[in-house]
Amino acid sequence: MTENRLLDIQNLSVWYKTYRGYAKVVDRISLYVGKGEKIGLVGESGCGKTTTMKAVMRTLDESAVHTPKGSRILFGGQDIVGMNSRELLELRRKHASMISQSPMAALNPVFTIGEQMLDVLKFSGLFDKKDKAGMKKAAHEAIRSVMIPDPERIMDSYPHQLSGGMRQRICIATCLLTPRELLIADEPGTALDVTVQEQIHKTLRSLVEEKHRSLIMITHSLGVARELVDRIYVMYAGHIVECCNARELFTNPLHPYAQGLLECVPRLSGGGLSAGIYGYIPSYVDPPKGCRFFNRCPDCRDVCRNEKPPSVEKSPGHTVACFNYV
Ligand SMILES: Nc1ncnc2c1ncn2[C@@H]1O[C@H](COP(=O)(O)OP(=O)(O)OP(=O)(O)O)[C@@H](O)[C@H]1O
Ligand SMILES: [Mg+2]
Repeated sequence: MTENRLLDIQNLSVWYKTYRGYAKVVDRISLYVGKGEKIGLVGESGCGKTTTMKAVMRTLDESAVHTPKGSRILFGGQDIVGMNSRELLELRRKHASMISQSPMAALNPVFTIGEQMLDVLKFSGLFDKKDKAGMKKAAHEAIRSVMIPDPERIMDSYPHQLSGGMRQRICIATCLLTPRELLIADEPGTALDVTVQEQIHKTLRSLVEEKHRSLIMITHSLGVARELVDRIYVMYAGHIVECCNARELFTNPLHPYAQGLLECVPRLSGGGLSAGIYGYIPSYVDPPKGCRFFNRCPDCRDVCRNEKPPSVEKSPGHTVACFNYV
């Protein structure tokens, strides 16, 4: 079973150093992605999705972060947490790539889009370094695949000359240039209108399916996750609270937080808007001892305040971390 896992995160914690002490954001989470599998990571803003994936790519500012002992991120069996800089370079160049949530930060403002895309191709090893025409053609195709016309003009533009949505699409196109075994897409459609968003999701899906790649899709939208991925992990305040098959989450959500999230999804059958989930994410500097959802939970009991709920498998492949099910 575990040999089919491309990425296997075990017991990962990530703490940020702040002037008030450690912000214990990601707290002992475990998740895995199989080879050729597509998974979704959903949860509200600030719950630690980007932090988790930056830990996988090791792009967090390591002087400002503490990763407690026992955290393991296995990629093809090798632990990313302990990789040296040469191994990390290899990982990012050949095996994993991430579409960033903030495209302005991912693009270099002083180089044109063309220079940046061609650089990626030059170092990918996919082309002979002198094959400029071949690389240019590949870049044009990638730009068209994210529904941007006139690739010539785009290649000559600097990032500030493009709209926010175009920059986001360029980041996606750049990742598509050199498909890796693992693609992490961090909210890849948030700045885009729905038709372009849908086209981009389709492009991502066909890329990973045709080439048998693995995908981690981070999204706020449960609807997007259901359409695109095989399994969904629901994250709340740095904990994984539930994980199951994407369709099962819609028909049989177990965790009160997942149930609340689903109630917020508008339905065609009507029924009005839900009240949402009352309250907000707790402080990470002084997080609750037990379940981090306890103060928003309709079923909260004493044990929830004092102990972290263990993750239990309620049915094959469907796990939940809640004392209601222990
Ligand atoms: N460099 C940092 N230093 C201190 N705290 C940080 C840092 N980066 C993120 N955080 C905190 O970590 C928490 C999780 O942030 P993260 O960006 O991982 O959330 P997210 O789930 O990706 O949210 P969103 O859906 O809004 O992108 C937040 O409370 C955030 O303030
Ligand atoms: Mg994020």
